[in-house]
Amino acid sequence: MKEFKDKVIWITGASSGIGEALALALAKKEARLILSARRAGELQRVGKLTGLPELDLMILPFDLNDTSNASAWAAQIINKFGRIDMLINNGGYSQRSAVLETSEEIDRSLMEVNYFAQINLTKVVLPYMKRQQSGKIIVISSIAGKFGFFLRSSYSAAKHALHGFFETLRLETESLGIKVLIVCPGKIKTNVSLNAVTAKGTSKNEMDPSHQDAMSAEECAIRIIRAIVQDKEEVLVGGKELLLVTIRRFFPKLFSKLVRKQSPY
Ligand SMILES: NC(=O)c1ccc[n+]([C@@H]2O[C@H](COP(=O)([O-])OP(=O)(O)OC[C@H]3O[C@@H](n4cnc5c(N)ncnc54)[C@H](OP(=O)(O)O)[C@@H]3O)[C@@H](O)[C@H]2O)c1
Repeated sequence: MKEFKDKVIWITGASSGIGEALALALAKKEARLILSARRAGELQRVGKLTGLPELDLMILPFDLNDTSNASAWAAQIINKFGRIDMLINNGGYSQRSAVLETSEEIDRSLMEVNYFAQINLTKVVLPYMKRQQSGKIIVISSIAGKFGFFLRSSYSAAKHALHGFFETLRLETESLGIKVLIVCPGKIKTNVSLNAVTAKGTSKNEMDPSHQDAMSAEECAIRIIRAIVQDKEEVLVGGKELLLVTIRRFFPKLFSKLVRKQSPY
């Protein structure tokens, strides 16, 4: 697959899980990578695992809670690589707290990291993609972006918001050669449930039982890459939990019963 050879790809949330798996898979396809997340040490670890030479790799750590320097980050990438072919908006974190127990601060941070940061990063790469007359924006939503679910109110709201923004962006930029893929993972075996925020504002620190036997991050990355190659507009990735999305579409009353029977974990 030569689709990715020498392509400059900026991946957020590259220090673990789906982002790490994407970085390793895309490096094998000879892409040039910019790896972002908060933990610089973990990004260095992933960078080493890619086996990419310094020329083809940039470690760009930052916190998605504050993307006010996003233009400078994009400029840094352009200085080194001269272009940006793909932005994979993957970094984010989940929630395991009931509406009644969740503070406004937690709600706002979930929206900041999972929505506003994604659109800010996208907006700073778009002018370069417009100039190139090509580019791909990939955004990792969730099945929680398709329906609300227990203990995930603001996380689900942020993921829903991504659909509104990125579906609009697709319509507005396709004539410029810019494509948009929205990925909706179901349950993927990563640290996402351990890192989910609780009502106390701390991480849950325990993997949800439903994630223990879920699809691997590596398999998820393969499916995302396939969807990129096929120029899909949206793709669902995961196991039997994805059925709920189809059931909601065609049998809303049945969905309404089934969703109430699901465990939040
Ligand atoms: N796994 C699933 O079942 C599942 C399902 C649906 C959607 N998703 C979505 O998939 C994406 C990747 O999650 P994952 O499953 O791979 O979980 P993960 O292993 O917890 O990875 C999350 C990544 O996001 C980064 N991140 C989190 N908060 C950040 C912040 N404030 N600033 C910068 N980077 C931040 C983390 O890096 P640092 O900690 O180093 O910052 C890490 O690299 C997320 O958007 C998640 O919502 C996952």
